[in-house]
Amino acid sequence: MQQFEEGTTLDRFLLETMREHPEATGQFLTLLKQVALAGKLVSARVNRAGLAGMFGATGSMNIQGEYVQKMDLYANETFKRALEHAGVVCMIVSEEEEAPIFVPPPFRHGNYVFCMDPLDGSSNIDTNASIGTIFCVFRRASEGDGQGDASDVLRSGRDIVAAGYVVYGAGTVLVLSTGRGVQGFTLDPTVGEFFLSHSDIRLGASSRTYSCNEAYAAQWDPRLRAWLERVKEPSLGWSARYIGSLVGDFHRNLVKGGVFLYPPTEKAPKGKLRLLYEAFPLAYLVENAGGAASDGTMAILDKTPASIHERTTLFIGDRDNVEEIVRALNT
Ligand code: AHG
Ligand code: MN
Ligand code: MN
Repeated sequence: MQQFEEGTTLDRFLLETMREHPEATGQFLTLLKQVALAGKLVSARVNRAGLAGMFGATGSMNIQGEYVQKMDLYANETFKRALEHAGVVCMIVSEEEEAPIFVPPPFRHGNYVFCMDPLDGSSNIDTNASIGTIFCVFRRASEGDGQGDASDVLRSGRDIVAAGYVVYGAGTVLVLSTGRGVQGFTLDPTVGEFFLSHSDIRLGASSRTYSCNEAYAAQWDPRLRAWLERVKEPSLGWSARYIGSLVGDFHRNLVKGGVFLYPPTEKAPKGKLRLLYEAFPLAYLVENAGGAASDGTMAILDKTPASIHERTTLFIGDRDNVEEIVRALNT
């Protein structure tokens, strides 16, 4: 794959990368550009949230039974609007909407399916901690050029053709993979462009940082608890880092190394995180960076959701750490 210098614009990167994918249509490029545009709009709003009356909850609950924040709705609408008119998607799945979203007339349906958590970590909005948009893209599986159907989304994670996230933190960073490595682009808000800042991100084989909500450890499988106790042996030199925003925790671990765990708990016996638009995208990125993602028994990308909001257990990060956790859970 062509090497790009730091400072390359996202647009140039996308244009030149697409030339290496002869099968890619203009639709794929347009889709990724629209994602970047929506990311810039949400970033601008997140930065001004306290001034723009965007802190706090709307008062309603989403279909996951979680309180919807004003910024959740803004991000959902922004990504939807950026994609629906562009003629690039035949269906969108969003954490914020119970049913799949179809392109309203007069817009044309496209060849791709977009799955998103429009704003992850939204309980952190009011605290100025990192939050983000997580997404993955499939090429449509359904026949024809009308609206998509269940076969477009209830399918193996191995069918993903692109995935990424935009993390709104101290800076705004878009991390993207189209199947050949993982790149990070930082938004320069003074000119409104994303520039390559993290080229070809690779994870080491193992690290000594874990990210989990340890307050739930008493509810975990005792074998996982035993693993945690083992790595806390002071001579091993482990640390913990946890924000409570998957995208923020994952981004930290991708850049610095680490393993993120969200095991089943009493409240969430199948895990809390959503397979299609949280675990799938991050698993695609982590595998493309040399890491691993598992639900404790199988690779996340080998799973096939039975419903669009299905939840999963998640262990994700440096390969050897994930393998060790899976081993511990199965012995
Ligand atoms: P969302 O804001 O999209 O509903 O996701 C919240 C998730 C995820 O970001 C994070 O890893 C997890 O909730 C934190 O859960 P706990 O508070 O149970 O640790
Ligand atoms: Mn989320
Ligand atoms: Mn969310």
